[in-house]
Amino acid sequence: MACALDIRALTAGYGDLPVVHDFSAAIEAGTVTTLIGGNGAGKSTLMRALFGTCRLFAGEIIFLGVPIERMHPWERLAHGIGLVPQGRCNFASMRVAENFKMACYSLQRADHDRAIARTLQLFPALKPKMSVMAGNLSGGEQQMLEMAMVMVPSPKLLLLDEPSLGLSPKMQQDVFSMARQVASIGVTVLMVEQNAHGALLASDTAIVLELGRNVLAGPANAVIRDPRIRLAYLGERSTERLS
Ligand SMILES: Nc1ncnc2c1ncn2[C@@H]1O[C@H](COP(=O)(O)OP(=O)(O)O)[C@@H](O)[C@H]1O
Ligand SMILES: [Mg+2]
Repeated sequence: MACALDIRALTAGYGDLPVVHDFSAAIEAGTVTTLIGGNGAGKSTLMRALFGTCRLFAGEIIFLGVPIERMHPWERLAHGIGLVPQGRCNFASMRVAENFKMACYSLQRADHDRAIARTLQLFPALKPKMSVMAGNLSGGEQQMLEMAMVMVPSPKLLLLDEPSLGLSPKMQQDVFSMARQVASIGVTVLMVEQNAHGALLASDTAIVLELGRNVLAGPANAVIRDPRIRLAYLGERSTERLS
């Protein structure tokens, strides 16, 4: 399969402080990759570095054969990269339909209706909610709306930062199913997840970030069996006992 996103020796952070160090990864088109790591490991910073909203110190980001690391965020958006940041970011006091309109801002007016209709095919559960205030949707529906809004301009890479945060176990599963569905139409998905177990089950590939470094990468079904990962991220207790 073709490599969609090739991240080479990326160092990124804020001000004079690098947070992500010498990070490399090659991500295949149309796959779901989960990035796991503890709090403060630099997961959100890596997502921002890919979208262009933090400082790049060194490295290259090749997306669909084109170097994008010098591009502004809006150029990356036009180039097919979509980011759903951590936390809610829709317009709570606007209706779902109006949120969809806002999501069309980077498109020509003549394309708005078609883009919204295409997105609703991917997220049909939002169809009956079009006249509901976004703030009155359930947590899961709001997360679905976030994802749908970013999908409106048809990105080729979807970056999801902690999409299941604060959701019930059932809705977390729904979010992972949506990620798979987005990948099934050929979009490459990279998501950061605290629910490592659920996310890994829905992923093709996993990357483990520790102190800003890529310490392990491989097929998700192998990473999920790795004893070190089970202990550190999947809630398994050590068999050694303190006496
Ligand atoms: N806007 C910012 N300015 C300066 N430092 C930041 C900023 N955002 C995050 N950091 C720092 O970068 C480090 C990694 O944060 P983050 O990427 O949010 O981690 P994670 O998403 O893995 O929890 C933390 O030490 C955090 O304090
Ligand atoms: Mg984060």
